Amino acid sequence: MKIIAGNWKMNGTPDALANMIDRLENITTDNMVILCVPFTMLRNGNAVVQIGAQDVSRHTSGAYTGEVSAAMIADTGAKYVIVGHSECRQYHGDTNEIVRARAAAAIAAGLVPIICVGETAAERDAGKTLEIVARGVRESTPDAGDVIIAYEPRWAIGAGITPTDDDIANAHKLVRDTLIEMGRENTPILYGASVNAKNAPQIMAIPNVDGVLVGGASLKPDDFIPIILGVN
Ligand code: PGA
Repeated sequence: MKIIAGNWKMNGTPDALANMIDRLENITTDNMVILCVPFTMLRNGNAVVQIGAQDVSRHTSGAYTGEVSAAMIADTGAKYVIVGHSECRQYHGDTNEIVRARAAAAIAAGLVPIICVGETAAERDAGKTLEIVARGVRESTPDAGDVIIAYEPRWAIGAGITPTDDDIANAHKLVRDTLIEMGRENTPILYGASVNAKNAPQIMAIPNVDGVLVGGASLKPDDFIPIILGVN
């Protein structure tokens, strides 16, 4: 069983989501499927797919114009929320500390946070990949509550390129070891960045890769469903 999570980012329409959910309802899979969509499209999932949001406020309520609380997300029927995505770290200034607070708020409302960590191109070029990844996991993960970790090399997101299998294996082994040190050995670890139906089976065969987080290739059923059906 693998976890196949989609991240629609700021794309899609309610009709497109309804169509995706209809198409997913008709497949048979043991894999866990999650689709993270814009706030305005949050809703219940079904037997095949659960719905998630893409970010969440650290606060429970109050004067935080533009923010959406974890309880509000949970109210829609959504069960998951991405926190610390590369684009939120880049455009909203999310630090590990902020990501951890977002994840804690999600857990308190009964959501499972999908906590993203990964190195930028500059950090990779400086030989800091493993340090950034380990620190990201340690500093972004709350002490208690179920979480999912997504390792996303930030330079590979939307770029059509992926690290080598060895580089993915090394990063995931480090994430696993870090989670074991934290007493969280059973936490699922996803790989994300430029995953598609062609490369997904090979990536998911790498040790410690429990699934994938898919951006561009999650938008259309004809791209997303083959990723789900390509592994079991
Ligand atoms: P991508 O995005 O699959 O389009 O590279 C992945 C992500 O941002 O989660």
